[in-house]
Amino acid sequence: MHESQRYAAIIIDKILGGTNLDIAFKNVFENVKGLEHKSQTKAITYGALRYMGQSKYLIKSLVRKKIENRLVESLIHVALFQLSHEPHNDFTIVDQAVKATKKIDLRKSNFVNAVLRNFLRNKDVLTKRFLEQEEGQFNYPIWWIQKVKKQYKSDWENILNIGNGHPPMTIRINKRKIITKEYKELLKENEISFITLANEALILKDANNVKEIPGFDNGLFSVQDFGAQLASALLDLKNNYLVLDACAAPGGKTTSMLENSNINLIALEKSTHRARKIIENLKRLKLEATVITQPLDNKNKWWNKKQFDRILLDVPCSASGIVRRHVDMKWLRRLSDLRKFAYIQLDLLNNAWPLLKPQGKLLYVTCSIFKEENEEVISKFCDNRQDVKRGELKFPKNVQHLKNQLVPTKYHDGLYYEILEKK
Ligand SMILES: C[S@@+](CC[C@H](N)C(=O)[O-])C[C@H]1O[C@@H](n2cnc3c(N)ncnc32)[C@H](O)[C@@H]1O
Repeated sequence: MHESQRYAAIIIDKILGGTNLDIAFKNVFENVKGLEHKSQTKAITYGALRYMGQSKYLIKSLVRKKIENRLVESLIHVALFQLSHEPHNDFTIVDQAVKATKKIDLRKSNFVNAVLRNFLRNKDVLTKRFLEQEEGQFNYPIWWIQKVKKQYKSDWENILNIGNGHPPMTIRINKRKIITKEYKELLKENEISFITLANEALILKDANNVKEIPGFDNGLFSVQDFGAQLASALLDLKNNYLVLDACAAPGGKTTSMLENSNINLIALEKSTHRARKIIENLKRLKLEATVITQPLDNKNKWWNKKQFDRILLDVPCSASGIVRRHVDMKWLRRLSDLRKFAYIQLDLLNNAWPLLKPQGKLLYVTCSIFKEENEEVISKFCDNRQDVKRGELKFPKNVQHLKNQLVPTKYHDGLYYEILEKK
């Protein structure tokens, strides 16, 4: 266990230093042998990040001075999570954490031992106390809790709790390759149970690894949240439309649009590394699009001056609506980031708009639940223009939403959609 604890601590230390979870996992796993360590490390890293509001409170209560070594502090976060939420024997967890500390910094092993044993001695009192603090009860930074409370008067508690849960494993069946009925048979043959959300959208129960689901390499399905699968229908695509997917990587919505309609699609992505993912996905699903690795900006040098019938603008954002999938976000984001994202989002809208035909439609999307990146960006954009009309969106009955904001539930993430029509 101590190796998984140590790897988890290394990952958390990187995250506290500003690296995102995917990159931190990749860096650490390059040096890890054995699948067991990897899955155990992943499980405790996710757990420790989900419950870091509690462990932060506990560390403040148990340690007077600031812990200078952030890696040691990260290891304490990991062990405190395990002591509060995992079924292992308490003393095994402590012993293993001490062993892991010895590999990090021999001089700190007594200190870690003392902190964890002190916690165990006072576990009931401390647990009661952290549950009285909002940061400990909900496991988000205070600013995040306050914002959700203010913006979702009746749903706030539910939204925070959903964000701490396990995300559903939702797939989109590639209807160009297999009909839903046949694919469901394949799942049954493989004893994978599922819930049907829509014709192509299924939640798979107890499936975690795409390789264990039939037909991934053959392009029979993609993993995509149900909320994200709605983009293609909301954009009202017709045969032979010229469509721009302006922030396209890794291509979840690009490929969804191509499976649903016969369109000419340009997938634009500024990051070369991320654009490769679009190409991989197109290849796997046997779909075709023109992938351009350039930015959407005020020059748009890549553009041949042919205006688009439809534009999908799935902008970078705080990811607050998918925090259960990116548990690092709640500790990486700062309140001030919302203003920075809003600035970028408005800029992208301004740069995409001239590319749209009159009577064309642009679908603005975020995976954020914060108004600053959604409603407020759209209002600012529309306030300054005469040639835009906000359209109406109809969501399926099994999607929970407050106007254009999808409220995260156990069936879908918290995306925001807005359709803008050009007069
Ligand atoms: C939210 S993600 C898009 C997710 C994608 N639509 C999907 O469904 O799989 C935003 C993407 O926009 C890209 N991006 C950010 N600024 C951009 C710009 N100015 N031009 C093109 N792509 C940009 C980012 O690199 C990132 O890959």
